[in-house]
Amino acid sequence: MDQNQEIHSWVGDLEFERIGPVKRVLKRALLNPLVNYIPAVAMKAALRFGKSELAQCNWNDPGGWKSMVISYHGKPKQIADKFLVNGGAMSMALRNRRILAATLLTRLIEQADNGTENGVHALCLGAGPGRIIIDALLEAPESSYATLVDISSDAFDYGRELAESCGVGDRVKYVQGDVRDVKDVLDPPPVVVKMIGICEYLTDEQIVDIVKALAEVMAPGGSVVFNSISKAHGTDRFFRRVMGLHMIHRSPEQLSALFAQAGFGDFVSIPEPLNVYHVIVGRLAGGPA
Ligand SMILES: C[S@@+](CC[C@H](N)C(=O)[O-])C[C@H]1O[C@@H](n2cnc3c(N)ncnc32)[C@H](O)[C@@H]1O
Repeated sequence: MDQNQEIHSWVGDLEFERIGPVKRVLKRALLNPLVNYIPAVAMKAALRFGKSELAQCNWNDPGGWKSMVISYHGKPKQIADKFLVNGGAMSMALRNRRILAATLLTRLIEQADNGTENGVHALCLGAGPGRIIIDALLEAPESSYATLVDISSDAFDYGRELAESCGVGDRVKYVQGDVRDVKDVLDPPPVVVKMIGICEYLTDEQIVDIVKALAEVMAPGGSVVFNSISKAHGTDRFFRRVMGLHMIHRSPEQLSALFAQAGFGDFVSIPEPLNVYHVIVGRLAGGPA
């Protein structure tokens, strides 16, 4: 089995959220045009009236970690959020991405664990509270551990409590900063790196800059897990005008080409069933694969 087949086999049995054919037609023909073209002022007023926590979090911090937590959790209290979080393609795709990325990270850690004495070190860039790496650590060998880096420390208290409550509190370390500035705290070099939920907010130049720095701190032959986003959610206009979210949509190939500039290769790209996100695994050249 080659690397591509092996990685696909890891995720073949996962259960994802899907949208049936009738709902898909209804969304395309009616709901998406409505939310995309109703005047933004009216949509914002409706979301404020409906006390939408998801909208408020995005207005405070567009694409920030709190809105991720609301979508991941999937049990909102407000009616407006029930509609957005339970029925919105984006929130469903986010939960699919969480399952896909966590499974891939677990298996990559297991693969790298073979033969290590001191446990596999994972690095999460733009980690927020670390929901996905905590999911992965729960299933991975107990010796594995993670450094979670975020430019903002806002999510760290929530993340530490989450990790404690899941029993992995002693396996996570939160560091405020950019990966370009955290060389000194990455000892030993990370073997598995997670960059989920971050590239869609960065320009090509920022991504290349970050992954070049990453290539310098990572173990040769190590893996990186990242995601692309497509416009298959059908509501980009709504996200821009109403939520203030300006995401950069790239194909898996376009995004992988940016990582290739820093020496990553052997890309394996896996779509979640709504085709909004592809989760991609790449390997840094050199070292034992
Ligand atoms: C959308 S959240 C994703 C959180 C988490 N990775 C997830 O998928 O649930 C993006 C996070 O990236 C962080 N971030 C953005 N630019 C960054 C940078 N250059 N270095 C480190 N963190 C960054 C933000 O502070 C935010 O917490």
